[in-house]
Amino acid sequence: MKIGGNTILITGATSGIGLAFAEEFYKAGSKVIVCGRREDRLKQLGEKYPGMITKICDVSVTDQRKELAAWVIKEYPETNIIMNNAGIQLTCDMTQEVDLDRVYAEVDTNLIAPLHIASLFAPHLKTKQDAAIINISSGLAFVPLAFMPVYCATKAAIHSLTLSLRHQLRDTSVKVFEIAPPSTDTELGHDRRPDKTQTHGGLPISEFITEAMEAIKNDTLEAPIAHSKVLHAKREEMFEQMNSRF
Ligand SMILES: NC(=O)c1ccc[n+]([C@@H]2O[C@H](COP(=O)([O-])OP(=O)(O)OC[C@H]3O[C@@H](n4cnc5c(N)ncnc54)[C@H](OP(=O)(O)O)[C@@H]3O)[C@@H](O)[C@H]2O)c1
Repeated sequence: MKIGGNTILITGATSGIGLAFAEEFYKAGSKVIVCGRREDRLKQLGEKYPGMITKICDVSVTDQRKELAAWVIKEYPETNIIMNNAGIQLTCDMTQEVDLDRVYAEVDTNLIAPLHIASLFAPHLKTKQDAAIINISSGLAFVPLAFMPVYCATKAAIHSLTLSLRHQLRDTSVKVFEIAPPSTDTELGHDRRPDKTQTHGGLPISEFITEAMEAIKNDTLEAPIAHSKVLHAKREEMFEQMNSRF
């Protein structure tokens, strides 16, 4: 996939991985539309990168997703890439009654939103010669960390949904990518760290983004990055065989 000359919508680009993708596509000459909930961050981005388009949107809210899609398609009909990146990561102790509000928040943001957004844009993307949906999953899609079970389940579901979406769009111009980051140094999980200045740790974002952009350039549709490759070894090898008849 070429990385210049596109118009790309990236959800959750006010920090971390989404921000790094936004910067790379912008520098390569693509028009970049970013969204998130933090207005101050979006304003800073618009000031730092002239021409970058910003939109406040909480992707966990159905009406806001619908409004976002309608607005993007009307105002920027040339849009040819959607990146489902926005995500949250919460802990959950299933040995005690769980707080369902937290579970719904995580499932709505990490699973329902990418599924709904992909479906809202698919008819539009199919009209483009060169188009893509890029879903950001995780190495934890393949092997869960048990103290964040809902997060890992949403990412496993994104992996599964991406396989199905790629199959459903196989006769169209729309490429469906899955980028599975390893533990990467971003703000993810910031809320649960007692010391708010403590970083996430993991792979430096610069190393992550270099490998992830190469995957997109090379049309590596399923791209576990760095350590995620080890976790990815347990992939669903039977998928093609099981689905070739349908
Ligand atoms: N960092 C890692 O180790 C790692 C590993 C594997 C996968 N990932 C995945 O990578 C993606 C990006 O995470 P990150 O590591 O870059 O974390 P991050 O720095 O915390 O960024 C998360 C982004 O998602 C946005 N977001 C969260 N909830 C949202 C909502 N309801 N509506 C709109 N935007 C929302 C945030 O923006 P606002 O707060 O402004 O809304 C922020 O821009 C996530 O899907 C995450 O699961 C990360």
